Amino acid sequence: MRTIEIFDTTLRDGEQSPGVNLSSKEKLEIALQLERLGVNRIEAGFAAASPGDLQSVREIAKRVKNSTIVSLSRARLLDIDKAWEALRDAESACLHTFLATSPIHRKYKLNMTKEQVIENAVAAVKHGKKYFDMVEFSCEDGSRTEIPFLIEVVQAVVDAGARIINIPDTVGYTTPAEYANIFTQLLNNVRGIENVKLSCHCHDDLGMAVANTLAAIQAGVTQVEGTINGIGERAGNAALEEVALALDTRKDFYQATTNLKLEEIARTSKLVSRLTGMFVPGNKAVVGANAFAHQSGIHQDGVLKEVTTYEIIRPERVGFKSNRLVLGKLSGRHAFKDKLIELGYQLSQEELDDAFARFKDLCDRKKDVSDEDIVALVDAKLVDVPEAYTLENVQLSYGNNSIPTASVRVRTLNGEVLEEAACGNGSVDSIYKAIDRVTNEEVVLEDYKIVSVTHGKDALGEVYVRLSQGDYTVQGRGVSTDVLEASAKAYLRALNKLVARRGDAVEVVM
Ligand code: KIV
Ligand code: ZN
Repeated sequence: MRTIEIFDTTLRDGEQSPGVNLSSKEKLEIALQLERLGVNRIEAGFAAASPGDLQSVREIAKRVKNSTIVSLSRARLLDIDKAWEALRDAESACLHTFLATSPIHRKYKLNMTKEQVIENAVAAVKHGKKYFDMVEFSCEDGSRTEIPFLIEVVQAVVDAGARIINIPDTVGYTTPAEYANIFTQLLNNVRGIENVKLSCHCHDDLGMAVANTLAAIQAGVTQVEGTINGIGERAGNAALEEVALALDTRKDFYQATTNLKLEEIARTSKLVSRLTGMFVPGNKAVVGANAFAHQSGIHQDGVLKEVTTYEIIRPERVGFKSNRLVLGKLSGRHAFKDKLIELGYQLSQEELDDAFARFKDLCDRKKDVSDEDIVALVDAKLVDVPEAYTLENVQLSYGNNSIPTASVRVRTLNGEVLEEAACGNGSVDSIYKAIDRVTNEEVVLEDYKIVSVTHGKDALGEVYVRLSQGDYTVQGRGVSTDVLEASAKAYLRALNKLVARRGDAVEVVM
């Protein structure tokens, strides 16, 4: 049985999903959960992209102890210096540097000859080796590169000291047999390849990312790159939970395993979905809400007689449990703290006090409080930006034949209380117009989504908004038993991020 190492890029390639914009605290929360899941490497970001990115990679590098922390860098010396600045405090660090190798990228994007590509790749790896013992080199668009040239590049960077060689299917173009052949050719033709890890990295443009990844494993790669829930650039990356479960369920066939704690998959998937605002479709393999639901009578009958008739994965295997009702009105601070620890949170005393106060408030509004409610409650308050505006009050006048009117009161950072009212096309519109007035911000509402955290009429409502202002895009999340209050909170949270982010990001061309 071979062990396949897992390289998670949810915080880098995953964060490149359109509209996703995680704060440092959200990234840290995800990184700590990935560590609990047992991934070998966490690509925490792209340190040279902006001071904010560097800071969040550094924070993750300081806090995560059991996974290697990776920063992406272009094959440029200054990018590599930034990666080192971000990773120098890590228990275990890895540089991931890349350069495109395909004819299309060489001609149109890089304007480089083959010789120049090799020269730059080697220079990047050699510079990286001054700081890092572990250097990964990726041949961007590797799957569309001429195989003889790919062999030349890989030989050169292996000779320069790269310890992991990654061949990305950057545009999701390859097929399982074709991709497997690339690795076979490298294994047969590169001297010293047996001393490096071979890695695959697949995108899902043709819906083949997981199939291509599994084909690469069969061909001999020992590291798999991907993201939780398959989020990522365009159609996304290979979904790591699907790869892990394919190996686990079909060990008989693949003869390979991972070191992941599979029972952490459900929690990781929910956290990533909640913090990124990228919802998991009901029919998604392994983590979708319907992945273990049996609808047809024939199937239900079969499952009742013998579960393996129609179920190849037990939900408990990936950590789905029934909604145990755990805490309620009479639960004390101690029980609440124990629950948070069980759910994987490490809160400061101040955060714990705040979460407990909000939990008690929720118990007054909602009879049964489930694990999901507590997670939503705590995550909604993971704030790492100053709260430029805090919601004090929102009031609404609504009738199906009258114009909705909202009044909103907010408190600013310096304690000033501001109040405004506005009419709108609907309740949410009027609230958002009132907030725009009170904050004097001009933003575009790019997206608005609402979901219920659990079932029942008193379920918590969770609202996600995406706002843009010029070049900046931010997300905000708000939770409440009242969806209009949740809507106001989500909008203000996004505005707070916008205020905090202005002046931070730098345009990076990959
Ligand atoms: O898809 C890709 O080519 C990448 C590289 C930067 C590794 O994400
Ligand atoms: Zn990628």
